[in-house]
Amino acid sequence: MFVSENLAVNEKGNLTIGGVDTIELAKTYKTPLYVMDEGLIRQHCRSFKESIDKYYNGRGLVCYASKAFCCKQMCRIMNEEGIGLDVVSQGELYTAINAGFPTANICFHGNNKTDDELTLALAHGVGRIIVDNIYELHRLDELAQKLHKKPNIMFRIKPGIDAHTHDFVKTGQIDSKFGFALETGEAMEAVKEAVALENVNLSGLHCHIGSQIFDIDPFVLAAEVMLDFIAKIKSELGYEIKELNLGGGFGIKYTNDDSPVPYDRYMEKVSEAVKAKCKAYDMELPYILIEPGRSIAAPAGITLYTVGGVKNIPNIRTYVSIDGGMGDNPRYALYKSKYDIVCANKAGEPKTETVTVAGKCCESGDLIGEGMPVQKLEVGDTLAVLATGAYNYSMASNYNRIPRPAVVMVHHGKHKLVIKRESLDDIIRNDL
Ligand code: LLP
Repeated sequence: MFVSENLAVNEKGNLTIGGVDTIELAKTYKTPLYVMDEGLIRQHCRSFKESIDKYYNGRGLVCYASKAFCCKQMCRIMNEEGIGLDVVSQGELYTAINAGFPTANICFHGNNKTDDELTLALAHGVGRIIVDNIYELHRLDELAQKLHKKPNIMFRIKPGIDAHTHDFVKTGQIDSKFGFALETGEAMEAVKEAVALENVNLSGLHCHIGSQIFDIDPFVLAAEVMLDFIAKIKSELGYEIKELNLGGGFGIKYTNDDSPVPYDRYMEKVSEAVKAKCKAYDMELPYILIEPGRSIAAPAGITLYTVGGVKNIPNIRTYVSIDGGMGDNPRYALYKSKYDIVCANKAGEPKTETVTVAGKCCESGDLIGEGMPVQKLEVGDTLAVLATGAYNYSMASNYNRIPRPAVVMVHHGKHKLVIKRESLDDIIRNDL
């Protein structure tokens, strides 16, 4: 019935997450409130990890893409699960360092890393720096020399696969702000330069073909394109690339229209392709990294709001006003992303209404969704928006000077605060 398996209805007719009553959570912590199910997060981590163990002899590392949802507790959970991290800014890296995360298991991304960011990464021994462009390569080499370090680097490659069309296509498209192009020879030139540099060690190649992808074929094709390039590097330069990072992007179920592939199928198919290519080229199997973000965090999270008003505009639509909105979830405003909603205190009742959920920002586009089926709503009801665990808290803003909500994690029937609600003093904390 629900998009995530961890949601249910209890004897009071209330929505539960990980066995915890959402109405109790709303009373205890107030709304708006992000709630994450730690058990489901851990389960997703294990599925990805086990898929590498099962289909690739454990010769790989799952790195959680922390841009999906980053906080110290999330870093601790990843470490406990034996998962690495993908960070994309000084802020994410700083969070991980502060959580005591082993930096050797961190991949540092970004298409325009600053010297401060690279210096922090070098000083803390980040395991892999994913170099995006030639300027970064040279800056990193200089900084590494100054700091007497020799970081492992990977190159971000544009494999030329567009997975976002209905039928994915290999476009050979090079119009992306990320990475080095294969077709133009840019990537090969960069590899030649990198292998000649003294202060970096080119250990691998990276690609990421997009996000919320349901098809396995584009991932397989991307892996094949990357192995063809690894083989070309070996034959032309005699240089062996030891690691292959295939990025993230695995689709999840936001509504019942989405049918995600079981997570272990990706590794099953991709490892078959990698093994076949390596056999054909007579190459060693590379160590593989994958970077799931959304698929680890999104299904584990919901957001709870309180309904403040129901405005029925006859023959047009019914607006339901909630105490949050685009400040805590900008994804409808940005991408017209679809969500399922449930009245948390009437979760067992049928959905008889169709509504537009409106946030409280001073902006008409501040909507969580339109044409959303839901139970009959009244002022004071608790509304749950489902599958909000990824790219909601992490993309939240203080627009209209609205404080960001708290994040609570539930586990084994218990709940604990992992990020405090922002206060009004937090809002003015940097004002002079
Ligand atoms: N690795 C790299 C290099 C990435 O750029 C990304 C996402 C990931 C991994 C994780 O992808 P995932 O498994 O989460 O799909 N804000 C957008 C999503 C942007 C994703 C950017 N890169 C949204 O809310 O849908």
